[in-house]
Amino acid sequence: MEYKTLGQFIIEKQAEFPFAKGELSRLLRDIGIAAKVVNREVNKAGLAEILGSFGQVNVQGEEQQKLDVLADREFISALQRGGECCYIASEEHEEGLDFSSSEGSSEGKYIVCIDPLDGSSNIDVNISIGTIFSIYRRKSSSGRLSEQDILQQGINQVAAGYILYGSSTMLVYTTGHGVNGFTLDPSIGEFCLSHPTMRIPENGNTYSINQGNFVNFPPAIKEYVKRCQEENLPTGRPYSLRYIGSLVADLHRTMLKGGIFMYPESVRHRNGKLRLMYECNPMAFILEQAGGKASTGKDRILEIHPKELHQRTPLVIGSTLMVDMVEKLYADMD
Ligand code: AHG
Ligand code: MN
Ligand code: MN
Ligand code: MN
Repeated sequence: MEYKTLGQFIIEKQAEFPFAKGELSRLLRDIGIAAKVVNREVNKAGLAEILGSFGQVNVQGEEQQKLDVLADREFISALQRGGECCYIASEEHEEGLDFSSSEGSSEGKYIVCIDPLDGSSNIDVNISIGTIFSIYRRKSSSGRLSEQDILQQGINQVAAGYILYGSSTMLVYTTGHGVNGFTLDPSIGEFCLSHPTMRIPENGNTYSINQGNFVNFPPAIKEYVKRCQEENLPTGRPYSLRYIGSLVADLHRTMLKGGIFMYPESVRHRNGKLRLMYECNPMAFILEQAGGKASTGKDRILEIHPKELHQRTPLVIGSTLMVDMVEKLYADMD
């Protein structure tokens, strides 16, 4: 079988940008290496002593799982070793890790926001989990980083991607020129191009939401969910509800099959639960690059001006026609 590895693909794509010096390519390869190491740990989770909680609570107020901490350490050390990164914002650290310095010693010009292990509640029950990353170029040319370098709008991302540790392990990413998916071939230890130029259907028959929060949903979301339950599709078939509880897995399915994922604001989560910098912005960039749409229900996710590293935002994302419908309900019912 003819295959193209992630490394070959990155080099090929880089050739299209002769002025590029290869730093971003190197950064993406560093992430690919860390993903293989984390995948190895994920695959033996039941055997090695890495299930269960780590015994600490993170800045999110969540009980950290051992695999949260392991994945966090692995990606940070790979990014630090690679030298292309001057700052890392991680879900698992209250403050970002700043490798820039006044002497400008860090050559790295990229800022990485990362959710090292997404879907932690699924680790111990062997359901798909993931990693999400978002990459920006620093705005200032050298020296110490400023808030303007770090809290950039999602439209400034130079790359974003996710790793899905599922029935197979996939790495899906974009650099703003479409979305490509790579599947890990364990027999050669390489991510191989398996889903070139991924596109999301403009409509779908699946909606994805934690229905358990229904009473707390805003009116527009309640109305949309009710319509999904009461009205049939044009095909005469009912909508399906699919909700895994791992954002990466829910959105990978949504991208491949079409559909909509919603995590709205509610009484319990005033600004929604999902974090802007390392969950919503990267996934919004990917879904838009695949022809989909990502909004808060009112505003485009990628145009939100971040105010703080761990800020949350409501998220309505997926097939364009379905997101349009939710936005129309927000406009009519607000
Ligand atoms: P994380 O494990 O990185 O903290 O993210 C969990 C997120 C996301 O993966 C998922 O879509 C959502 O939490 C599920 O939340 P509920 O359990 O509240 O539905
Ligand atoms: Mn978490
Ligand atoms: Mn997450
Ligand atoms: Mn996480």
